[in-house]
Amino acid sequence: MSLTDLQEIQRQRNLDTRGNWERSQDHRNQITTKLTAGEPESFLRVFGAGNANDLDLNQLSQHYTQIELVDIDSEALTHGIKSQGISHKHGVELVADVDLSTHQFPYTRPASTTVSACLFTQLIEQQSVEHNRSPESVALFRENHLKMLMSSTQPGGRVLFITDIVSNHTARQLPKVSEDQLNGFLSELVAVNNFFTGTNPFAIQKQLDSFEEVATHHLHDAWTWKLGARRFAVYAIEIQLKA
Ligand SMILES: C[S@@+](CC[C@H](N)C(=O)[O-])C[C@H]1O[C@@H](n2cnc3c(N)ncnc32)[C@H](O)[C@@H]1O
Repeated sequence: MSLTDLQEIQRQRNLDTRGNWERSQDHRNQITTKLTAGEPESFLRVFGAGNANDLDLNQLSQHYTQIELVDIDSEALTHGIKSQGISHKHGVELVADVDLSTHQFPYTRPASTTVSACLFTQLIEQQSVEHNRSPESVALFRENHLKMLMSSTQPGGRVLFITDIVSNHTARQLPKVSEDQLNGFLSELVAVNNFFTGTNPFAIQKQLDSFEEVATHHLHDAWTWKLGARRFAVYAIEIQLKA
């Protein structure tokens, strides 16, 4: 697919989900809280920021001196910051028109914290059916995504890999599962292979164990994200890099 076609598809999708600010509140709180825990930091980079419905930029700009939002869709990024009343004076910069499925990101300087914000499942969706049928190809694709996140982060920095793992399209019970039962419910789905391609958190943790630059990693409790009639389960893996 050409870059222009891919951009047009993402532009249309982001237009469709633009009005989800209110509905995304719990999801946004989950992510913003994780990003503002700890001491103030120098530089946050978010891959797949799109409409930024999952980021409270006013809160984040008090915690980080500089924030860089990266996405293929420039319109969504511009809308995202405008709708939250954010401008350059808040230290927020936009990097648009980049195709992150290539795993190439020519960063200007490494971030202290890097986030992959529900981007991975979309990148996987952009690969061929044949590619996604091969567990080895999917694992290699994910390895390259994780490497892109880590290599654009400073030593001793932090990476948050956040992804949707399943929706109520294939997990009908999801809307009825209580918060304290969600982790167990998702583990059962993983055991029967009911999750989005490449998002098995246990496989990712195993993969992270093999990376030289990883000091520790931690799987946070999952949460749900309501988007209209559709409900997604989402989780975050927090990776601490060696200094
Ligand atoms: C599920 S959305 C998350 C949006 C945003 N974090 C939010 O909650 O408003 C995924 C984002 O990834 C972006 N994206 C999808 N494929 C991409 C690619 N190949 N390169 C760069 N960004 C991409 C989309 O434009 C979209 O903004």
